[in-house]
Amino acid sequence: MTDPAIHPQSIDQAAKILTAGGICAFATETVYGLGANATNSDAVLSVYQAKGRPRFNPLIVHCSDFTMAEKLVVFSPLARDLAEKLWPGPLTLVLPMRPEAGISDIVTAGLDTLAVRVPAHDAARELVATLNRPIAAPSANPSGRLSATCAEQVKHMFANSVPVLDGGRCAAGVESTIIAVVDDELVQLRAGAMTREEISATVGKPVLATREGVKIAAPGMLKSHYAPNANLRLNATAPRAGEAFLAFGRSPDFTGPMRNLSATADLREAARNLFASLHVLDAENPECIAVAPIPKTGLGEAINDRLQRAAAPTTI
Ligand code: TXA
Ligand code: MG
Repeated sequence: MTDPAIHPQSIDQAAKILTAGGICAFATETVYGLGANATNSDAVLSVYQAKGRPRFNPLIVHCSDFTMAEKLVVFSPLARDLAEKLWPGPLTLVLPMRPEAGISDIVTAGLDTLAVRVPAHDAARELVATLNRPIAAPSANPSGRLSATCAEQVKHMFANSVPVLDGGRCAAGVESTIIAVVDDELVQLRAGAMTREEISATVGKPVLATREGVKIAAPGMLKSHYAPNANLRLNATAPRAGEAFLAFGRSPDFTGPMRNLSATADLREAARNLFASLHVLDAENPECIAVAPIPKTGLGEAINDRLQRAAAPTTI
């Protein structure tokens, strides 16, 4: 089962796999993605297959720069302003797709919008530039499970069955923020590594919460997602016997399995450590992982979103 030979050692090797219609996992600043040439339907289908992902759930397309993205989607002045100021970065924009974009309709699951982003990770952008095609990439995890923030987690979750280009540990640790630009309004479809406050301050417009006013949703926002094998008990002020504990801020006296997202209660550090800590605690096979309360402000919005979905009963 373990075949390290499948893993590319360079961007060129990874690009060759993608050019040949294969799939390859790669690092971004948020989480690892499982990529395919977005213009090749067979390749994109292999991504859905490898993840066991429902076909109604569209993918994010990764571009090397704004110029590549502009060939795929139509930017309103507001959308252009956001992209110019915040890309590269963990911000995905959902915009009307150009009919001539050439993107496989499997990527969009039949929608007439496309989710695009320019990742703030040099190797990710170089991979897209070397392929010279946009890369469709969902997070590199089996559908519904925890996301991966290092190459080892991807290799482990796919039992070495997909090639992984190692790009180190992801700096942000949670997925990109998804914003739909509708008329002249910004609607957040998924909280993520770029805070609403930052987006809002950059363009001087409020970022509406999903369903506040505009009826639009990311089809992939399922109630249960990012699920560990263990149950999760949220807002736990103290661990109980038999549980594993995910602390935030001060660590309690506890002899069971414990990880601290951030001993100094720093939300950025907590986001970076979130999935890795859950992977580590889950590997101890506890019945339940208790999680300390995390503030809901700033990056706490994305962290709490992931935890709530991870705690929801699994439907997969
Ligand atoms: O940080 C990230 O965004 C990572 C890295 C790899 O870039 N990718 C990621 O992809 O999180 P994924 O597939 O796990 O999540 C993509 C989300 C899904 O909830 C999907 O429904 C939504 O994006 N989405 C994609 N295209 C959309 C569209 N046209 N309209 C609304 N939502 C869309
Ligand atoms: Mg995902």
